[in-house]
Formats: sequence, structure tokens, C-alpha cells
Amino acid sequence: MKRIYFNEVVTRDGFQMESAFIPTDTKVVLVDALSECGYAKIEVTSFTSPKAIPMLRDAEEVMGRIRRAPGVEYTVLVPNVRGAERALESRADELNLVMSVSETHNLANLRMPREKSFAALTGVIRLVDGRTPVNVSLSCSFGCPMEGAVALDEVLRWGERFAALGVRGLTLCDTTGMAHPAQVAQWVDAAQRRFAGLQLTLHFHNTRGMGLANVLTAVQGGVDRFDGSLGGLGGCPYAPGASGNISTEDAIHMLDAMGHDTGMDLDRLLAVARRMPDIVGHSVPGQVARAGRITDLHPAPVQ
Ligand code: COA
Ligand code: ZN
Repeated sequence: MKRIYFNEVVTRDGFQMESAFIPTDTKVVLVDALSECGYAKIEVTSFTSPKAIPMLRDAEEVMGRIRRAPGVEYTVLVPNVRGAERALESRADELNLVMSVSETHNLANLRMPREKSFAALTGVIRLVDGRTPVNVSLSCSFGCPMEGAVALDEVLRWGERFAALGVRGLTLCDTTGMAHPAQVAQWVDAAQRRFAGLQLTLHFHNTRGMGLANVLTAVQGGVDRFDGSLGGLGGCPYAPGASGNISTEDAIHMLDAMGHDTGMDLDRLLAVARRMPDIVGHSVPGQVARAGRITDLHPAPVQ
């Protein structure tokens, strides 16, 4: 069966939403542990304004202190040229540029209209000039919590504008878990046709319990790259009602059980996932770390 690649976003999407600052040492130890689990990519942090995202204000230090495992790409989220300069300085392997397909969400999250974001990100792509691969994450690609439905054509239109600038990949983000499997099937089919030469990644939140159904639908439609967040943490602080991403370990567990090659060491991943409640100081939504794998059997009750 086809190889499936995972990008871990817990230290970016996960931690940006936490109310208590996660100490830098803890972030570094966690990324180093994740580096041993078989990920294709780890989104370590974001180079955003520390006023907008105070939880990730230690981005330079984290990038400077993590151990870089061979074969793993260390990517970072970037909203503007200032962020790109910081990311390049920190030797990121990829820049993950972000803007929203929804005008209202872009104004709330990035404090500028979409055209201004597009101009800023065009400036980033010119600055990078092919030295580092660029991915673009399109927030609210399946719906906006303030505007409602987002048209597929609108998603494709923004994707095309970035494709024309020579980006390596596009990520369609379901920022507040509004996507359902029938919609995912349609979006995936259209995006794969339109962006055949690009890496296509899907980024689902499990806000309404549809996350793994959406992953499965996307896999069946031929997608082989997903973002996931350990423990199912995550959410955009500027999207009303946002909650956690799909739990990476639950997604890997499902795909593993189905016989897919994810390249991941699930036992090692579950051991790291079981540390998450202590790291964030509260319970986390991921289920397999609590329940165990389907192959973990219980002793029969004594008769
Ligand atoms: N890194 C560090 N500081 C930055 C920065 C960056 N990438 N971009 C802007 N700043 C600083 C400016 O230097 C300025 O600092 P000052 O007040 O000390 O002078 C301040 O932030 C405001 O700059 P401005 O250009 O006016 O930005 P803004 O206030 O309009 O905010 C963004 C725009 C994009 C920088 C901000 O909204 C942001 O970082 N958003 C990220 C949201 C996010 O990550 N959401 C979750 C993921 S989807
Ligand atoms: Zn997200």
C-alpha cells in the first residue's frame, strides 16, 4: 500500500492554543523525542508576532536548540517577510506560509485583508528565491466559522496564485473542523487534478468528530500527506470555536491497522503521547494513548 507521510504540528498548532506558556526546555525535549518517531516533517514553531502568539515567543531558541535528525524536515509557520527573515536565520528546512481563504478570518488572524497577505507572501517567496522550499497553508479551506461555506473555486483560485509563484506544496486546512467526508472527496479530487505537480497536504481539526473520517476519505482519494497533532491538541486562537487537530497517534494507529506504511514507530509515538497531559497540565483528546492499541489485550476476568 502507498506510503503516507506525517507532519507533526503539536509544538506549533498545539502549543499556540495553550493558556500556560510551555517552557522552552520542554519544547526542545519534546521535539527531540518526536524526531525519533519516524515523521517526514515536524512543524516546530511559528515566526509570528510575539504579541499575536505569545506562546511561541521562544521560536529562535527552540529552533537553535533542537537536534536535527537526518531525514526529518523541520518546518516553521511564517505570516510575513519579518517572519521569513527570522525563519531563514534559524535555518528552517521549509517555510510554511499562511493565509486564509476567508477574508474575515484573515483579518482576525493576520490583521490584514487577503490581498495584503498575498502581497506579503509574494515578497517572502521572492526573498527566499528558491533557497528553501516553500509550502503554503490555506486556512479555512473547508469553511469559515464567521463566513460559513467557502467555495471550492475560491480555494483553487488562491492555490493557483501560489502555484504560479513556484511553491513546492499546498496544505488545505480545515481550521475549525467544518469539513465532512463528502466535501473532502470533492476538494481532494479537484486539488489533485489542479495541483498535480505539488505536494498536497491535508490539515484537519477534529472539532466535530469528523477528523479521522476525513483522513480516511482523503487517503482513499490518493492523498499521502497529513498534518497531525500529538494528543489532538491545537487550534487557531483567532478562529472562534477552534479546537484540537486530529490526534497524530490515533490517525497513525488507524492507518497502521489498515496496513498502510506510515514510516512511524507507533510504540515510541504512544510513549511520547502519554507524556502530553503532564506537559500541558490537563487531559488531552487523543484516545489510543489512553485505550492502548487494538493489539494490546486485557487479561480475561477470573471465573
Ligand atoms: N515576527 C516578530 N515580530 C513581528 C512579526 C514577525 N513575523 N511581524 C510583525 N511583528 C511585530 C512588529 O515588529 C511590530 O512590533 P512593535 O509593536 O514592537 O513595533 C508588531 O509585531 C506589529 O507589527 P505589524 O506589522 O503592525 O503587525 P500586526 O500587528 O498587523 O500583525 C501579524 C500582523 C501577521 C504579524 C500578526 O497578526 C501575527 O503574527 N499573526 C499570527 C497569527 C497566527 O499565528 N495564528 C495562528 C496560526 S494560523
Ligand atoms: Zn490548525
